Amino acid sequence: MNDLIESDILVVGSGISGLLFTLHLTQNTNYTVSLVTKRSLTDTNTDWAQGGIASVLSPKDTFESHIEDTLTAGDGLCKPTVVKEVIENGPDQVRLLESLGVPFDKVNGEFELGKEGGHHERRVAHVKDFTGHAIQSTLTKRIRETKNVQIFENHMMIDLVTVSDKIAGAYVFDKEKKKVLRFQSKLTVLATGGAGKVFLYTSNPDTASGDGIAIAYRAGAIIRNMEFFQFHPTCLYHPYAKSFLISEALRGEGAILKTMDGDHFTPRYHDLADLAPRDIVARAIDSEMKKRGDDHVYLDISFKQKEFIQGHFPHIDSTLKEYGIDMTSEPIPVVPAAHYTMGGIASELNGKTNIAGLLAIGETTNTGLHGANRLASNSLLEGAVMAKNAFSYTKELLDKGIPEYTFSSWDEGTSVESDEAVFVTHAWDEIRRAMWNYVGIVRTDGRLLKAKKRLKLIKDEVQQYYWDYKVSSNLIELRNLIDVANLIIESALLRKESRGAHYRLDYPMHSPDVRDTLAHKILGVFLSEDIHIDEFSPKI
Ligand code: SIN
Repeated sequence: MNDLIESDILVVGSGISGLLFTLHLTQNTNYTVSLVTKRSLTDTNTDWAQGGIASVLSPKDTFESHIEDTLTAGDGLCKPTVVKEVIENGPDQVRLLESLGVPFDKVNGEFELGKEGGHHERRVAHVKDFTGHAIQSTLTKRIRETKNVQIFENHMMIDLVTVSDKIAGAYVFDKEKKKVLRFQSKLTVLATGGAGKVFLYTSNPDTASGDGIAIAYRAGAIIRNMEFFQFHPTCLYHPYAKSFLISEALRGEGAILKTMDGDHFTPRYHDLADLAPRDIVARAIDSEMKKRGDDHVYLDISFKQKEFIQGHFPHIDSTLKEYGIDMTSEPIPVVPAAHYTMGGIASELNGKTNIAGLLAIGETTNTGLHGANRLASNSLLEGAVMAKNAFSYTKELLDKGIPEYTFSSWDEGTSVESDEAVFVTHAWDEIRRAMWNYVGIVRTDGRLLKAKKRLKLIKDEVQQYYWDYKVSSNLIELRNLIDVANLIIESALLRKESRGAHYRLDYPMHSPDVRDTLAHKILGVFLSEDIHIDEFSPKI
């Protein structure tokens, strides 16, 4: 059976970090890359990003100010050296993207900069309100023109394979041919994005099922700070709209949040009112909705000139029109929704993890940049910086020479084709509902324990199902989703304090003892001082 695909590097995921990393590598070396992505190259969280990429690009702005805003949003849990390195690299990354063809908005040759929550300056470089899409399509076009990269769309990683304490590659499911392939490589780079799909309501695309985090965890990676999940304050509330974000950039241009009866409530919650850090605005909305029994709040920008609104937010305007909402003349019904996975695979900024042969970059990681709450538009920036650093690190490793191990073909055992696909969809729905109701914006021990109990039952059933039936893409995602949900619950139970996006009604204050939550398959979940990856690493 011809099931073997070999290359120097296996890259999994095709958002900003995966594509930029691959471009750096293929443009600067002759190493070969297999690029695996579970749908098409453009089905990514990056493609859905509206706001933009935060960076110091105005003479009025300073690195110190961007660093300060990032640290404030991160609520004591950022790693200052990581924050400094990412932010100081920002302008170069924006210019690199521009040189690759991203058509950032400019006025008189200067970047036209937007403002978002938690930023004290205008520093968000953007392409109207579809920045992520502009970045994704530019990089996708470049990748398709590049040699030394073989692209595998509609291919889903199932698990990493470890040989002699080193990652030797992965088993990957070819969704069209319905067969499992062996991807062997010297290094494997996970750029698999976040896990918004773990919650019932999310701004993320269906692809965001936390695959990289779950798979790396099962392979022995340290996973850090999974309790921190960012809820975006404003997703469209509409019976037929699925996951449509209303960018914070609207509030940056003056939009205000109001209750259904017209109360502009945000000034009661924070001095920065509608532009307070996201965790605060999301909680304020949640609290007003619960207090009043309302299904949503309103975001209103209709008092601005029609031309201004349509000029700045053409994508949002036209999408809302499809749902019968005219944002130039009426307020938009909105609710908070799960948006960004701040926890993830503990990684350095060059992608290094605690496992030999495995790198991770982008949203699937936790580097310490975002701390307990990500500052808006800092994540595309992190993805770009990590792609560049991971390229240098990878080149150094490959130039030095690293072993490549073989492993055997996928063993299907006695598994048969499933005739009960409804089990998968039902379990998926149950997990997401339990996560939303018990592990959402406001948490308590009682709620978290309820979620834990339900998830345990589902996990046992899924495990059995996984062994009995042949793999399918839905089953692979379900298995990952449940592992990620468990990591979030266990980490949230351990953090008996409120910090950033993790808000506990039963522990409403900060703990004086600021520590990370680490999770490891064998060591369990525990609180720790800042770790150095090498403490856990076998050497290559
Ligand atoms: C937004 O446009 O509001 C999203 C920006 C981000 O999440 O960084």
